[in-house]
Amino acid sequence: MRIYIEEHYKAVAKKAALIVASQIILKPKSVLGLATGSTPIGMYKELVEMHKLGEIDFSEVTTFNLDEYYGLPQHHKSSYYMYMMENFFQHVNVPEENIHIPNGIAENILQECLKYEEKIRLAGGIDLQILGIGANGHIGFNEPGDKLNVTTHLVGLSDKTILDNSRFFDDYNEVPKEALSVGIATIMKAKKIVLLACGENKAEAMKEMTSGYVNTKVPASILQTHPDITLITDKEAGACIV
Ligand code: F6R
Repeated sequence: MRIYIEEHYKAVAKKAALIVASQIILKPKSVLGLATGSTPIGMYKELVEMHKLGEIDFSEVTTFNLDEYYGLPQHHKSSYYMYMMENFFQHVNVPEENIHIPNGIAENILQECLKYEEKIRLAGGIDLQILGIGANGHIGFNEPGDKLNVTTHLVGLSDKTILDNSRFFDDYNEVPKEALSVGIATIMKAKKIVLLACGENKAEAMKEMTSGYVNTKVPASILQTHPDITLITDKEAGACIV
């Protein structure tokens, strides 16, 4: 496991963007696994800047997002589809047909999950997976529990996640209680994983996930067994990593 503890958020964003850029320079047809939430916003900004400067070309890149809220149509202002459009896809040249985000209003959710997995497989698997981490240790929306789901599935969000994510909605009661999420095994199959964590509310989860113990109560802890994992944190999130 490679661990970079940076001075501040901007340095985390820059390092993550440099890794994504290197990946695409070395393999223009890269398949990227992408995350949403507050943490990667700076990374997307940096990537957009690099693209505008002509430093990265996304024209052959394929992307798969980790998750989408169940029941939110694409154009709902708090959907992850809108997040990705506004923060990234509208500003770069990933071809529309190469962009994949789970459909939160698919009629047959099970089919949607199976189809998503199949598309990842047909694309050749994820080359580089970008992850954030929930304060409760979730990755994607794989929440703590007795068992972890392995492939893309419909998941019930924990009270903690609903509360944490209510900042993206006008009202707490608007936050969907379920989401479609890529599963743990799918994440673990990525050739390289980069996890970003910022802020002191992530410190405990980062401590747990680097402790040497793997357990389903901290889903991110399984990443310790991945052969190519890089953690990039700010000082606050990395404060308890030993
Ligand atoms: C988002 C995702 C989640 C977030 C996590 C952290 O696609 O998969 O696991 O990465 O909830 O969110 P922020 O960055 O908002 O703290």
